[in-house]
Order: sequence, then structure tokens, then C-alpha cells
Amino acid sequence: MIKLAPSILAADFARLLEDVKKVENAGCEYLHIDVMDGHFVPNITLGPAIVKSLRKDVGMVFDAHLMIENPDNYIKEFVDAGCDLIVVHEEACRHLHRTIQNIKSYKVKAGVALNPATPVETIKHILKDLDMVLIMTVNPGFGGQSFIESMIPKIEELKNMIESQNLNVDIQVDGGIKPENVDKVVKAGANVIVAGSAIFNSDNINETIKQFRKNADL
Ligand code: DX5
Ligand code: ZN
Repeated sequence: MIKLAPSILAADFARLLEDVKKVENAGCEYLHIDVMDGHFVPNITLGPAIVKSLRKDVGMVFDAHLMIENPDNYIKEFVDAGCDLIVVHEEACRHLHRTIQNIKSYKVKAGVALNPATPVETIKHILKDLDMVLIMTVNPGFGGQSFIESMIPKIEELKNMIESQNLNVDIQVDGGIKPENVDKVVKAGANVIVAGSAIFNSDNINETIKQFRKNADL
């Protein structure tokens, strides 16, 4: 079953709740929350205070994509703000296994994101501890970038690795995903689909979400 995770990076921050309600009412399962610190990536977005405000009115799964240095220092704050799933970057964690255990100690789900140049091999030995792996299909930092085609075999490689270890780990893809290319990533093995600009910049959000589902549920 494919899950859609609209990224609020492309929403109107002055009308954030209004925009989030649109995707919740359209049946999207996850809310993808892009947290950027201006260090790990060259952009700054939002923190736990905004997550906490949204939590009061939104029932979706809150999926925090932490593009920040020293994520361990902020995990508790994001859990307390209401996140259900915390994703950290492999490249930002010196002791990734420890960070994952830290996330799980709060009884929320844990994921690891891999930049385009980071091999899936780097998480092979901690795969069984993860609920989700996020394959970045653009370099993190900005919305509206083009999908990197060479990430398709990487998704397949991860899928094979998960199957060969007999695990049940979600594969999320993030960056440049649109109704026109979602079939490719799903065929390769992805089941949690992030989309920012394709959804929030659409003139008809409901119709775009329908297109995503139609093209993704192969
Ligand atoms: C990029 C973010 C993405 C971004 C995706 O660093 O992690 O979640 O919002 O935006 P689109 O779908 O526009 O590429
Ligand atoms: Zn993201």
C-alpha cells in the first residue's frame, strides 16, 4: 500500500494549517516536515514550535525529516512536539546506531535518510533497527529540484537488501517526485512518496493527489 507524504516545505507558511488541512482532507497519510538548520543544508525552515501548533489540529502521521547537524540534541523536542516518525541523515550522525536507539527510546518510529552520493551499504548492519529508509532523489536543501534518475537502481538495491534480510522496512523517496514519474520509483520498491511542489503548487490539489495514487498503485 502506497502512502503519500506531502512536504510542507512547498506550502504557504502564512496559511500553513489551511494548506495542511487540504492534504489531510484529500486522504494523504503522512505529513512530511522538512527541518533545515542552515548548517547541514544551506537553508533554514522550521522547528518544534510549529510542529506543536499543527499537532493540535492535524491527525496525519507526522514525519520529521531532520536535515540538521547534531540531531541527537533535538530528538526529544520533536517527539514532545508530536512527531510520530523521526528521520535523521546518515551523513549527520557520527554514531548512527546510538542515534536510532535514542529515537526509539521515545517509542516513536525511526528512519535514516541517505543523500544521493551515500551508498545503501552504510546502513546494511542497522537495517533491522529501522522502520524506514529515505532515499533522497535530490540533494537536500530545497524544494522544486529535478529528480536524479540514477537513484532508481539505488532504490532497487535497498529493496533487495531489505528482502534478503527478511525485514519489513518502508522505503521513502523524496525530491522531484511528480505524478509523471511516481510509477518508476514505486516499481523500483518505494512505498512512501514525498511530494512538495507537485502537490502544493498544483491548481487542483485533490486532482493531483488522485493522479499520484492512480499512477502509483500499479
Ligand atoms: C528537500 C526536501 C524535500 C522537498 C521536496 O531537501 O527534503 O522534502 O520538500 O520538494 P519537491 O517535491 O518539490 O522536490
Ligand atoms: Zn524532505
